[in-house]
Amino acid sequence: MPTIKSIVAICAFLLTLGVFAGLSAWPLAAADNATVTAGGVTLHSVSTRFPDPGRLFPGGDSADAINNNCLACHSTGMVLTQPKMSRAAWQAEVDKMRNTYKAPIDAAAVPAIVDYLVSLKAGK
Ligand code: HEC
Repeated sequence: MPTIKSIVAICAFLLTLGVFAGLSAWPLAAADNATVTAGGVTLHSVSTRFPDPGRLFPGGDSADAINNNCLACHSTGMVLTQPKMSRAAWQAEVDKMRNTYKAPIDAAAVPAIVDYLVSLKAGK
């Protein structure tokens, strides 16, 4: 009858083997843009392009406040593809980023951010 201790030891051993097999295969796949098979699992490396992280909101100086405060967590595209909204709705949106999501946005920058959003994306 196997004891709990021996079962734990066997699991730890198998886990260690698996981790080493994975660790030794992973850098090869990444470096060679290749396919690696181990333990019945085949990994295919792929290349992908992420959106340009250097992209800023358009508008020069008028975009300074939004560029400085809104790009830490999401892209310009994510904000610019939102539907048009009223000034009150944009104000509430920026307040939500600060209060609910704890975005470190300087209170003094909020009016300039809201003005910018209203100038680009204002509805009724
Ligand atoms: C601390 C991280 C953070 C910062 C900084 C931040 N946001 Fe967000 N934002 C979020 C999260 C989290 C969500 C909700 C999840 C999602 O949609 O990605 C969100 C969602 C949004 C949405 C989609 C609508 C919604 O309410 O879900 C808009 C528009 C938006 N943010 C605008 C802004 C603007 C404008 C700023 C700058 C004033 C800003 N965000 C700064 C975290 C942040």
